[in-house]
Amino acid sequence: MQEERAAVAEQQAGAGSAPQQGVKKHHGFSGKIGFVLAAAGSAVGLGNLWRFPYLAAKYGGGIFILCYIILAATVGITLLMLEIAIGRKTGKGVLGAFAALNKKFKWLGFLCLVVPVIIVPYYCVIGGWVVKYIVAFLGGASGLVASGGAAVDTDAYFTSFIADPWQPLLFFLIFAAATIFVVVFGVQKGIERISKVLMPLLAVISVALMVYVLCQDGALEGVVYLFTPDFSQFGYETLLAALGQLFYSLSLAMGIMITYGSYMKKDVSVPKSSLQIAICDSAFAIVAATIIIPSIFAFSASSDAAQNALGTSGPSLMFVQLPAVFNNLPGGRWIGAAFFILVFFAALTSSISLVEAIVAVLRENLHLKRWLSCLIVFGLVLVLGVLSSLGFGVLDGIHLELPSGASYGILDMFDYLANSILMPIVAICTCILAGYFIDKNLIPDEIGLQKQGMRVYFRVMVRYIAPVCMAIILISGIVFNLILPPL
Ligand code: PFF
Repeated sequence: MQEERAAVAEQQAGAGSAPQQGVKKHHGFSGKIGFVLAAAGSAVGLGNLWRFPYLAAKYGGGIFILCYIILAATVGITLLMLEIAIGRKTGKGVLGAFAALNKKFKWLGFLCLVVPVIIVPYYCVIGGWVVKYIVAFLGGASGLVASGGAAVDTDAYFTSFIADPWQPLLFFLIFAAATIFVVVFGVQKGIERISKVLMPLLAVISVALMVYVLCQDGALEGVVYLFTPDFSQFGYETLLAALGQLFYSLSLAMGIMITYGSYMKKDVSVPKSSLQIAICDSAFAIVAATIIIPSIFAFSASSDAAQNALGTSGPSLMFVQLPAVFNNLPGGRWIGAAFFILVFFAALTSSISLVEAIVAVLRENLHLKRWLSCLIVFGLVLVLGVLSSLGFGVLDGIHLELPSGASYGILDMFDYLANSILMPIVAICTCILAGYFIDKNLIPDEIGLQKQGMRVYFRVMVRYIAPVCMAIILISGIVFNLILPPL
């Protein structure tokens, strides 16, 4: 733990503050693989597994995937490189990083810190549901897993589970404790070590599940549906959905990439690592869609019924529709267990990164020990997470009714505030800071952009294209949820 701080201090020296005497040359991540796997672990999460497949199904299959890949390769990688470079250049957590670049932007650090503070608690609540489903599938829970031809109502099972006053809290506690447990061990011994184990495992389980699903009768129809570009469905909604997903999926604007960047060695290439993170994230999203969509097609009575089932996203797709699908596949109990283990690993590496973004600030700015910082974050997660969890049970009377007709429970409110409002604002302000308020060579030099063309491209992206894209997300997020019904 001391070593990471030494690394941070040493890098601060590189960012222009007085060189620190006697600081050992150590860094957070041991090298490139550790950094890329941890950052990819952060990016690959619930967003890939429950959001991407649903969006791909809704917005024209192949055409959505194509838009997503093009946007990831342009706007996505630019923002990734920018955040990683800000972290590495300043060597600071999110609170100090913006202030180190320009004192007038200290407030942006606070705003950015609020994002993981809001997200981690409810992310751990959903992580808890995932743990419950692993246990239920492994144990063959009678209300969830069909046995001997008896039909089960997966909707009723899920609804009664989340409304239970104690069970979701217990599983939430388990997930939150697992997250904190890894972070207590530090960057190299905790985060890097677990990412090096879980990311390859994630790849093995997801590819195995994909192959299994593709071998089922009727699955091919789903593959055709998923990958055939339906140009008639192409419109600004497709672009908007792809852009929103990109941002969510790459863990941008929540301080994570800045924090991880501050632990990155100077000799690791920022462009190459960013490319690898984006490829890894997109590949997982596409594999997840190739598991989920064909399995729904294989199980549904008709292609219309399959498309109806695909009309749902989020919790309901993952905890209601998919378990029903697994029940109809041979060996469904084990497929279900394997699938939820996959989701668990993906969610764990993401929540670890969210927690580390907060822990880094507590250690750096309040000079607290790592274990104490973790304890404080754990307390915070418990308080806010309990509220989100109880929002489906005891507190389900608390709802925000919007003029658009949408009604948000506590978890939805946190999600909306973080993803649709704060994150786009943070991303826009980050681009404005980097594009207009610091030396124009600072970030391109840190990234290591050699060619003049690349520097111009990066500058145009950061100054004009990325902020405009983010502004569109912000405005549409406000208009299409608060005022008009969601798209
Ligand atoms: N990128 C991760 C995911 O796709 O799940 C992590 C994450 C993104 C967590 C956005 C939370 C969030 F609101």
